[in-house]
Amino acid sequence: MMWNRLCVGVVAAGAVMSGAALSAQQVKSPVPSIVEKDGRFALMVDGAPYLMLGAQVNNSSAWPAMMPKVWPTVERIGINTLEVPIYWEQFEPEQGKFDPSMLHTLLEQARAHHVHLVLLWFGLFKNASGHYTPPFIKLDEARVPHVINEKGKKVDSLDWWSEVGQRADRTAFVELMKDLKAADPQHTVLMVQVENEAGTWGSVRDYSTPAQKMFEGQVPQELVQAMRLQQGTWQEVFGKDADESFQVWGIAHYINQIAAAGKAVYPLPMYVNVVTRDPFHASPGSWASGSATDAMIPLWKAAAPAIDVLGPDLYTPGYAVYTKLLDIYHRADNPMFVPETGNAPEYARYLFAVVGHQGIGFSPFGMDATGYSNAPLGAVKIDEAATAPFALVYSLFGPMDRVVAKLNFEGKVQAVSEDPAEHVQVLTFGKWRAKVSYGLPQFGSWLTPKGNATPEGGAMVAELGPDEFLVTAVHARVDFEALAAGAQRQFVRVEEGTYVNGVWHFVRLWNGDQSDYGLNFTSVPQVLKVTLATY
Ligand code: DGJ
Repeated sequence: MMWNRLCVGVVAAGAVMSGAALSAQQVKSPVPSIVEKDGRFALMVDGAPYLMLGAQVNNSSAWPAMMPKVWPTVERIGINTLEVPIYWEQFEPEQGKFDPSMLHTLLEQARAHHVHLVLLWFGLFKNASGHYTPPFIKLDEARVPHVINEKGKKVDSLDWWSEVGQRADRTAFVELMKDLKAADPQHTVLMVQVENEAGTWGSVRDYSTPAQKMFEGQVPQELVQAMRLQQGTWQEVFGKDADESFQVWGIAHYINQIAAAGKAVYPLPMYVNVVTRDPFHASPGSWASGSATDAMIPLWKAAAPAIDVLGPDLYTPGYAVYTKLLDIYHRADNPMFVPETGNAPEYARYLFAVVGHQGIGFSPFGMDATGYSNAPLGAVKIDEAATAPFALVYSLFGPMDRVVAKLNFEGKVQAVSEDPAEHVQVLTFGKWRAKVSYGLPQFGSWLTPKGNATPEGGAMVAELGPDEFLVTAVHARVDFEALAAGAQRQFVRVEEGTYVNGVWHFVRLWNGDQSDYGLNFTSVPQVLKVTLATY
């Protein structure tokens, strides 16, 4: 595995600057990394856990003339990290002539806006196709052919078995990492996505003559050993999953080589974004074959050890599917990270569920004012109304991103998003149970929760001490019950405040109407420190 085990104490969150402001301290800071401790993960930035509150731009927005239409939107949302593509066709317009000018523009502008960056390498794969390859690849069909389906027809993916394509993609990526290392001593860039939604649509595997020959041969030793399999052909070893497994191996192995070569130059965390499939009713052909779907995660892990994270792209707004996919990708061998999610308002509340799955980051897609909407995957119009729910949840977590990330790494955080089918959710902490209810007024305790008119609620509770909790939520009531028989909870103190650079600043105490009916959160950003006792 490529993660570092954390052997030393984590730097106090308060000692670390948020954002990407330049300082001598940061220039000397360690390279961002993903660390693991007791089965939990943290993205370490400047030596401390970091919660990435991200946004991704539209596909064609990473051009100098477009960036002025990006910054106002993402500033309004209050991100701390921008995900932005680096296009192979732009970076290497002619073979061997590299143009890092856009990379430098992005670094400068991100620093000026005090945000970090995640770079997305749009290489041989972009949504399974080769559309971002430069002309010297795109037009060289003899040496970089298309994938062939079972009927012998070309599909819209370039063949990863092509040595010419592979060498060229790797060379360009390594060049990018060299430029980045030289241009970014302050670590504005935190992670790199290697390719984009790799796989093929329209064919479960490559049936070209060379691929067919490999498919009829033995499963490579490397994979047999990594997965502790019996030696044999793909059919013998993987049975009904042979075609897809062969495809996964080819693509994951390809991406691993690119990532490993890039890491040899500059070892930033690297991840792939995954075309997910419906975890309950996956019909064949409804996902890009070769992608790290639920069934293929172990094979991906074995074939691509240089990839630190398999991050699901989540564009299904339904609670059951969304949270099931979070369960699937939250594994002891995989940090939870959502590199893309829909930007329609209903998705904003899922930041809570991602945090509750010990997430290191979350990023709605298509957040800019270039005039493009990917509805029905996201909002019809990217205006103030569409971005407001994201701005709200980011305004809660933004000032305490480091605090939450540190508590989460220590296993102290639980968080949930509203399930329209269940209007009460329960979180248990030792002798306390926190109850999150949706659709109640702020006043009174005689009504039954009916859920919000649109599911927009979410809540986080983090344990600060045996009877002390950090609580925040939107459109929800949070209350506590003592688990001991006959014991009734009372609030000793409910303190509203805010974190500034990791230090808590007192605002007021909540009492009377403000706490007699539980702790009621609306669209006003509020954070509480709550001390409990029983009577
Ligand atoms: C997922 C891809 O990764 C994105 O680049 C984009 O194409 C969205 N789908 C759809 O807008």
